[in-house]
Amino acid sequence: MLIRKIDGNWVRRWMSRALWVAPIVTAAVLVLHIGPPGASADAAAPPQTTLAELKADFARPKATPFPSDDPYSKAKAHLGELLFWDPILSGNGTQSCASCHNPGLSWTDGLRLGVGTQEMKTHTPTLLNIAWAPILGWDGHFPSLEAVAFAGPITNPGIMNRKPTDLIRALSAIPGYRAAFAAAYPDRAITEAHVADALATFERTIVSGPAPFDRWVAGDDKAIDAPAKRGFVLFTGKAGCSNCHLGWAFTDEGFYDAGTATGDDIGRARLFTNTVKLKYAFKVPTLRDVARRAPYMHNGSEATLADVIDLYDRGGIDRPSRADFIKPLHLTAGEKADLIAFLNTLTSDPKPVDVPVLPR
Ligand code: HEC
Ligand code: HEC
Repeated sequence: MLIRKIDGNWVRRWMSRALWVAPIVTAAVLVLHIGPPGASADAAAPPQTTLAELKADFARPKATPFPSDDPYSKAKAHLGELLFWDPILSGNGTQSCASCHNPGLSWTDGLRLGVGTQEMKTHTPTLLNIAWAPILGWDGHFPSLEAVAFAGPITNPGIMNRKPTDLIRALSAIPGYRAAFAAAYPDRAITEAHVADALATFERTIVSGPAPFDRWVAGDDKAIDAPAKRGFVLFTGKAGCSNCHLGWAFTDEGFYDAGTATGDDIGRARLFTNTVKLKYAFKVPTLRDVARRAPYMHNGSEATLADVIDLYDRGGIDRPSRADFIKPLHLTAGEKADLIAFLNTLTSDPKPVDVPVLPR
């Protein structure tokens, strides 16, 4: 909790829950008769309301949050989708947002590091459930989703390398874009702010689909198998994963040193130079669709889920910045396999990728 107090003026519902959600989850799954051998389900049985609360905590939220200064409209989301797929956003006309955030790869690219006009220093994060992220970027340097497009990829010479004035001129020359901006905005203008808002609106519609885990939480006991159920108990108990990977998207949106970085790759300490626990601290990624999104971590340093589990089992790197919840776990081979079985249940059902016809 220390980091969040230092780091945040953004207070989230989950923060107050972080302290109690893990034990309740563990107790409640014992009631579902999946506890370790010898566990007494009756003794551990919480009142019925606790199971209902467990379901509520992992249930999918009813609505996607859109900010009041960039509210949802269908026309704006459609315009944002066109822009997202359009290589017109890059200086050399070859790369779109979707080149790196590829929906067929759960909105990442399968590469260790992102590759724009140059190789980037970080791995491309998924955009799944980005509507819920209060701040963006592996080190949290983007204050809002609207701020990302022009402060980050579009103008960066190493990524898309496009001058905003050139982009606006190119979009203004295409009748289909003039119509799409006119439909999305009452002033009909083609501006940098409208491009950024439309992209953000589309990105907020990128929400992970239902997965076997959701069906299990909703009451279908057969939706996931015994190893995965044991893995969930470990995840929320002995392995301590849910201290950071909380809630339906499996992230508390905090920043921690999980032992992936060394040297000058100092993460959030770039913004908070004097905070010991923010050195080497990076954003907790969602674990939705995680099995489809290798390689892992901000630097793509872990090739497989087994490598990720081994890193946690070693306890990251023992140093002052190491997160309090990261420590050697001494997991058995069977427990590691159970954790992976559980992570595999977070993969959403496949759905076809809609590639829009671009205006020209
Ligand atoms: C060359 C690959 C590449 C392209 C093209 C690209 N991105 Fe990214 N994107 C990345 C990488 C790498 C990061 C992580 C940057 C960091 O924080 O270090 C990122 C981060 C982001 C984030 C923050 C995600 C988070 O979890 O905090 C958003 C949002 C985003 N990109 C949206 C876009 C949009 C919109 C476009 C098109 C205008 C775009 N990206 C184009 C590679 C790319
Ligand atoms: C102290 C908070 C914390 C704990 C505890 C924790 N994680 Fe993480 N997790 C993170 C952070 C931070 C990252 C990103 C680190 C980076 O990119 O350098 C991460 C990344 C991951 C990733 C990679 C996801 C991706 O998209 O690249 C997986 C998988 C993962 N964690 C699973 C687990 C499992 C399984 C456990 C329990 C054994 C666990 N985590 C415990 C904070 C935590």
